[in-house]
Amino acid sequence: MKVAGKVFRSVNWYVESGRSIPAVQWIEQRLLPHRFEQVISNKPEEVAVAIESMQVRGAPAIGAIAAHGLALAYCLDKKAFFSHWIPRFRATRPTAVNLFHACDAMLVLAEQGASDASMIEAAQAYADAEVLANERMGAHMAEYLAVGERRIQTHCNAGWLATVDWGTATSGIYHLARAGESPFVWVDETRPRLQGARLTAWELHQEGVACRIQADSAAAWMMRRGMVDAVVIGADRIAANGDVANKIGSYMLSLAAREHGVPFYVAAPSSTFDAACESGADIPIEERDDDEVLMMDGVDAAGVSHHVRIAAPDVPANNPAFDVTPFANITAIFSEDGIWKPQ
Ligand code: MRU
Repeated sequence: MKVAGKVFRSVNWYVESGRSIPAVQWIEQRLLPHRFEQVISNKPEEVAVAIESMQVRGAPAIGAIAAHGLALAYCLDKKAFFSHWIPRFRATRPTAVNLFHACDAMLVLAEQGASDASMIEAAQAYADAEVLANERMGAHMAEYLAVGERRIQTHCNAGWLATVDWGTATSGIYHLARAGESPFVWVDETRPRLQGARLTAWELHQEGVACRIQADSAAAWMMRRGMVDAVVIGADRIAANGDVANKIGSYMLSLAAREHGVPFYVAAPSSTFDAACESGADIPIEERDDDEVLMMDGVDAAGVSHHVRIAAPDVPANNPAFDVTPFANITAIFSEDGIWKPQ
């Protein structure tokens, strides 16, 4: 998708002439929306840290950057690829299953004695497949979103930054916009890390899609006032029974949507489905640092960054990063392969 009119992906290879091994390039998402910067690295540890520290986040993007980091690790040291790098990447974040699918795919290839070039191609193919999946699912979804005044509620960032390109939840919105429709998006700010306010609103703005950022707690009230035509979220892991793990607050949104008769859609590529998890109860939920709740980042009028405390010192926080929405609360799940509904 576009930034200042130029097309970018959230993760890609950086190829410099004369270098035998490419480097991984990614958008440093923690700096947005105040600064747009890309990081280039040929060190697998820096790629792993980019996932842990949420420079790159969002389930499909985590899978894609892990595939790139592992290809890099394989080219540098085959023995360490198996003994160190596979476990290192698997330990970076626990909930998004795309990470584990990407690690498994790269491991299978490596066990077959793949060449360096084919590992690099595999990582590229993994990212390309995600992009295609997102584009396809958005095309299905757009028909479902073309209702009412097309006022769509989102949560967190399930946009192109989170998925290499197109986005999951935003893909249908971008398809509508490109078809000349005028979708409007209510963007949940998404406490505590504010991926909605910082990333989704910025993305939509770059693509010329109208939106307004609101406090997460405004969503139910907007539904009650008849101002939401559909809710669309992404997913970090979908269990075999259709339960969906996504950013904390998604479950609450599903309850409000059910109460007010607003369709509640989930968009996710097949890499987010986990047949090994029988139900949502089996999905590991990441617990993150208290400081994400207790501190805030922002820039002042001069553009200078500040990291400030918003709570009294020594008061602890509770910070589950994800929740699980039961399949019964979901109107439909869209993937590149089709549509699933509870009935
Ligand atoms: O903690 P994050 O920012 O990685 O969480 C991301 C989400 O919950 C997204 O909604 C999810 O990955 C959807 S995928 C586009």
